[in-house]
Amino acid sequence: MARKTLGLLSLMTGLASLIIVHAYGESVPVTTPFSSGRGDHFHEKVRQMQEFKASFSRRDLAAAATPGYAPAPSPQVTSGPRVYGVISYGADPTGKSDSTEAILKALSDAFNGPREGSLIEGIANLGGAEIHLEGGNYLISKPLRLPDAGVGNLVIHGGTLRASDDFPTDGYLIDLSASKSSSSYNYEYITLKDLMFDSNYRGGAVSVINSLRTSIDNCYIAHFTSNGILVQSGHETYIRNSFLGQHITAGGDPGERNFTGTAINLMGNDNAVTDVVIFSAAVGIMVSGQANTFSGVHCYNKATGFGGTGIYLKLPGNTQTRVVNSYMDYTGIVAEDPVQLHISSSFFLGDAFIVLKSINGVAKGVNIVDNLFSGKNNGVEIVKLDQSNGAFKQIDQVFVDRNTVQGMNTRATVARASMQGNGTSWTVDFSSILLFPNLIKHVQYSFSASGSSFPNHALRNVSENRVVIESDVAVPASVFVAVDQGVTS
Ligand SMILES: *[C@@H]1O[C@H](CO)[C@@H](O)[C@H](O)[C@H]1NC(C)=O
Ligand SMILES: *[C@@H]1O[C@H](CO)[C@@H](O)[C@H](O)[C@H]1NC(C)=O
Ligand SMILES: *[C@@H]1O[C@H](CO)[C@@H](O)[C@H](O)[C@H]1NC(C)=O
Repeated sequence: MARKTLGLLSLMTGLASLIIVHAYGESVPVTTPFSSGRGDHFHEKVRQMQEFKASFSRRDLAAAATPGYAPAPSPQVTSGPRVYGVISYGADPTGKSDSTEAILKALSDAFNGPREGSLIEGIANLGGAEIHLEGGNYLISKPLRLPDAGVGNLVIHGGTLRASDDFPTDGYLIDLSASKSSSSYNYEYITLKDLMFDSNYRGGAVSVINSLRTSIDNCYIAHFTSNGILVQSGHETYIRNSFLGQHITAGGDPGERNFTGTAINLMGNDNAVTDVVIFSAAVGIMVSGQANTFSGVHCYNKATGFGGTGIYLKLPGNTQTRVVNSYMDYTGIVAEDPVQLHISSSFFLGDAFIVLKSINGVAKGVNIVDNLFSGKNNGVEIVKLDQSNGAFKQIDQVFVDRNTVQGMNTRATVARASMQGNGTSWTVDFSSILLFPNLIKHVQYSFSASGSSFPNHALRNVSENRVVIESDVAVPASVFVAVDQGVTS
């Protein structure tokens, strides 16, 4: 990244902006406390910004001509007027005094800063303006919101936000909601990155409401009591390379039974959670919107044995969810009436398992394949049915197969077995392996009689997941049987 160092303190007379140059070389526009009407007038602001931008070349020349000038040794980002360094606004990077108003002012200035056309209709393009937290730790007493909806291409990054002891418990440190919205979305392409959020056991960290293409990257979110991240309507919030936990712990925490809260609550569609660790919370990810995808998620938020859930898919009848390459660590996945659910290439450790929970008895288009399950010989099944609200009745295209299992009981929708006998009847019992009780949609068998006899034989019964084959004469024979619950009938 090209970095530009501005070394000259210059007071831009004729501008409403005062340029403050920090010891480490950052330059940001700052509102003079006495300027009137600032932020009210957009065109005036644009003009100021343009003048400010034009002034760079002059000041660079001046700096070069200043004898004995030494550039600051390690400049931070100094990319001109659209980096709003919060310290210049009076924010306290030591976290001792309240920085809420200072950061809100920086947000307001970014909001009122230069705009270059629009993103989606109704969303003004802020061009990549940055709210820079400058590596500080800021005490926040109320949710940080933009002044209004309708902007995009804005980055907030580089520091820690900590909720004060009187932060509202229903609030979020960064709240991308809006009181009014003229466009169909509140915001587009807001990036939150390299941030630590400490909710101080008061509310949540980030809420993204009715926004488009939001990026939450490399964040560490702790001490939430409601949701670490809440996403509501809108679409494409991408949460990646981040760490979330209510309590800061590395597993085996003596207080694990008491973990509460939800690390990520997705109440919208088309979001992605990738390469994210959830290390404490009652629920790791709660999902009630469609077409979300999870990859590289490591959940050890609260063990199932203590009442925790890794990923809870609460959208009966319209799941449309993919979970791949994830690591469910002593905590599992619950899916209500799964319809189009794919879980594969994932590792379930510590007797972690998957529950299919019947709400209206529907399970359709479910792939639970190619996963690894590891347990401690407690007889735990890898996939369980919760039929406390009634049995699954509409079962179609459910494939639970090719999972490798150690120390747990396999369940599958496809099974094979053979048996030997000497007589006229062979019963192969699949009830301990087939997932759904009393459901065999397809059977194939081979009948291998030794000796010289060629008896007639037939499939006689498949009730209760037991396959019965009979022959017309008594013979010593082996039968080989394959059954399937998954195929469309
Ligand atoms: C869990 O919470 C209960 C009630 O709030 C408390 O009595 C108990 O000591 C807590 N347990 C741990 C291990 O923190
Ligand atoms: C099968 O059973 C019959 C009698 O029921 C017996 O004569 C025969 O030896 C048995 N064959 C084998 C292979 O066990
Ligand atoms: C199939 O077996 C079940 C018991 O498993 C039995 O109740 C049922 O009557 C049998 N059906 C037929 C057609 O024999």
